[in-house]
Amino acid sequence: MKQTFGKLQVGMLVGLSTLVLTAALIILFFNCARHPVGVAVGRKGMVVSAHPLATEVGLGVLKQGGNAVDAAVAVSFALVVVLPRAGNIGGGGFMVIRMADGRETAIDYREKAPLAAFRDMYLDSLGNVIPDLSLYGHLAAGVPGTVAGLALAQEKYGTMEWKGLVLPAISLAEVGFILEDWQTEGWEWAIDDFKRYPQTAAIYLKGDSTHQAGDRFVQPDLARTLKRIAEQGPDEFYQGETARLIVAEMKRGGGIISEQDLADYRAVERNVIQGDYRGYGILSMPPPSSGGVCLIELLNILEGYNLKSLDFYSVGAVHRIAEAEKRVYADRAAFLGDPDFVPNMPIEGLTSKAYADTLRKAIDLNRATPSKEVYAGRLPGPEGKATTHFSVVDRWGNAVAVTTTLNSSFGSLVVVTGAGFLLNNEMDDFSIKAGVPNQFGLLGGSANAIEPGKRMLSSMTPTIVVKDEKPFLILGSPGGARIITTVTQVIINVIDYGMDLNDAIHAPRFHHQWLPDELCFEPMELLPEFLEGLLEKGHRIRIWWYMGRVNGIQIEDKGQTYYGVTDPRGNGKADGY
Ligand code: DON
Repeated sequence: MKQTFGKLQVGMLVGLSTLVLTAALIILFFNCARHPVGVAVGRKGMVVSAHPLATEVGLGVLKQGGNAVDAAVAVSFALVVVLPRAGNIGGGGFMVIRMADGRETAIDYREKAPLAAFRDMYLDSLGNVIPDLSLYGHLAAGVPGTVAGLALAQEKYGTMEWKGLVLPAISLAEVGFILEDWQTEGWEWAIDDFKRYPQTAAIYLKGDSTHQAGDRFVQPDLARTLKRIAEQGPDEFYQGETARLIVAEMKRGGGIISEQDLADYRAVERNVIQGDYRGYGILSMPPPSSGGVCLIELLNILEGYNLKSLDFYSVGAVHRIAEAEKRVYADRAAFLGDPDFVPNMPIEGLTSKAYADTLRKAIDLNRATPSKEVYAGRLPGPEGKATTHFSVVDRWGNAVAVTTTLNSSFGSLVVVTGAGFLLNNEMDDFSIKAGVPNQFGLLGGSANAIEPGKRMLSSMTPTIVVKDEKPFLILGSPGGARIITTVTQVIINVIDYGMDLNDAIHAPRFHHQWLPDELCFEPMELLPEFLEGLLEKGHRIRIWWYMGRVNGIQIEDKGQTYYGVTDPRGNGKADGY
């Protein structure tokens, strides 16, 4: 059956007895039709980010002769100013780089648990989780990594001067920029949250309300912080006035990030995680992100199915993909964490074709395996609205995929007083108690338990797909637990279903993360017979919110033509030259 996305029959759906409908049903605003909005074409450079002004900054760097890494650093700093809910210096991220000369690397600037952190820090004396403690306020913040990560990338792979890459962000903060309605609408949801912290409210609120579309948004404290970082270098953040302001903020609000935490923080370079899918090379982020491992494990399972013959969005295809997702997320919960603390993670096993074969064999094509019957695998051998993604390629063919985050929208909600930037709430990405899901419903165990100085497990999946030794797709997405399934589905849409990246990104998505045992669809028009087919197999279906906002690049004509695509689910911009 070919899914045609006819109008969703709400009445009919509710009548289906096993259907779990907890989210409000919202009729689809996008469909599979070609949608030229957001597509840019270039031959010398391309930047696709979540904010038009950040894209402009990146393109400016490329036009001045900078390479893709230079542009990525400048875009990151610009996003701090123009997209403060996710762009950050108070958070962390990952950068996957493939240089035209074949060098491949992954820069890890994930936040770390402060040295005073401990396993049960979010539990009360009875061992119960204290609501919201890992999500809001000073204790929710991990030691920020972004400035160190950008510096490492720039020093080793960039070509331009550090200061010049921070300058555009400084002027955006100093002179301000005009807010658009999509941005202020997003802020309105957070008015009450902002009010909890006067220094946060002072920036994001105007009286009792948010700033309005059309207002010029000026951030003088942030401009001063960026100036210090530009002039004194990245160490200023960790050992200078900015560090002093962070520690003062911690003391004021009962937080635990110390001078030593900041001085000790180091970004690290890791080997990219590599896989292959139907002849294409996959380069993605290794632990402490689960993204790359899960992406490759998922693709390996799916490689054994002829998805093309099953039709896009058919019951058969969705069933196979969902069943594979279930098994991969079970493994994620059991095995993955920070490699500096969990030395024997079975990465090779999890990403091996042989293991994928075993998992595939356990998938019943007629029946959804209930999640309680899915366990993390027995591996071959004992071997040990608030994230943002952008993609860049330059005239030489250097490719960069960056996903960076504060975790939740506006992170911990705590602005560092006097420094004008938000701190993350990444501590919630740890497994704060075994068996208790985090804000994305993800579970974990000891591999992702809190330990001082440890990085919390992530799902961020900045990815480069390689064809004939050249970058072919550069992509990634926000979306918490759904990042992995979003990136996988976009790749499958291109490779298996022959879509161009634009259609692949526009196409509707679905998600299963093992627990809860629900197959989630975006709010869209689904044919009753499609739903019935899945329900008959035993899937529990949930209509949920939109999944991810992919900002990607497709490279064609033997590396000659760059197509930049931004997701209709966001408000980003692709621009090239
Ligand atoms: O690292 C992670 O997996 C999460 N902190 C990402 C959060 C996220 O994507 C929220 N955004 N939409």
